[in-house]
Amino acid sequence: MDGGGAPVAHPAVRPISFLLGNWKGEGEGGFPTISAFRYGEELCFSHHPSKPVMAYSQKTWKLDSGEPMHGESGYWRPKPDGSIEVVIAQSTGLVEVQKGTFDSEEKIVRLKSTVVGNASKVKEINREFKVDDDGGELSYVVEMATNNVTPSQPHLKASLKKI
Ligand code: HEM
Repeated sequence: MDGGGAPVAHPAVRPISFLLGNWKGEGEGGFPTISAFRYGEELCFSHHPSKPVMAYSQKTWKLDSGEPMHGESGYWRPKPDGSIEVVIAQSTGLVEVQKGTFDSEEKIVRLKSTVVGNASKVKEINREFKVDDDGGELSYVVEMATNNVTPSQPHLKASLKKI
């Protein structure tokens, strides 16, 4: 434990430790080819201090019935130069490799897909995660391009509170 009582993170993970924890809230989705929708969501970022990697898991559900919707999980690997590599497996079977940058002052991570695999329609996925100044709220946006829709258009945005 450090002076603040928080667990000590691996040095590689410290610059993005603003993401660590459990986050819960609601999001809204859309795309030029589909109807708008809302969803409930829980995200978890965790790590072990001996590893230079953060584990990520996400689940979503229908707000009226609680029925599960999309889920995904993966690993976030920040590098000392401010770049970051992320791998994500989605419940739909799609896999993605994301590369991007993080800014520990602004508490932002920006990602662009370098690989989208096993996808029927998706060509590209961009993600941006931001934590607010006091560290209590995480918001993100996801954009994608498909066979029919380019360039990338918004698909998801959500705002989650630390729980
Ligand atoms: C539709 C991809 C995350 C809910 C779609 C479509 C694609 C897609 C390709 C079909 C678009 C079209 O037909 O033109 C993705 C990707 C995601 C993601 C790549 C993550 C990066 C999510 C999440 C949710 C969600 C987190 C819900 C919580 C939906 C819904 C539709 C949809 C409700 C409309 C389905 C329909 O009308 O049949 N998504 N999605 N998606 N997605 Fe996502």
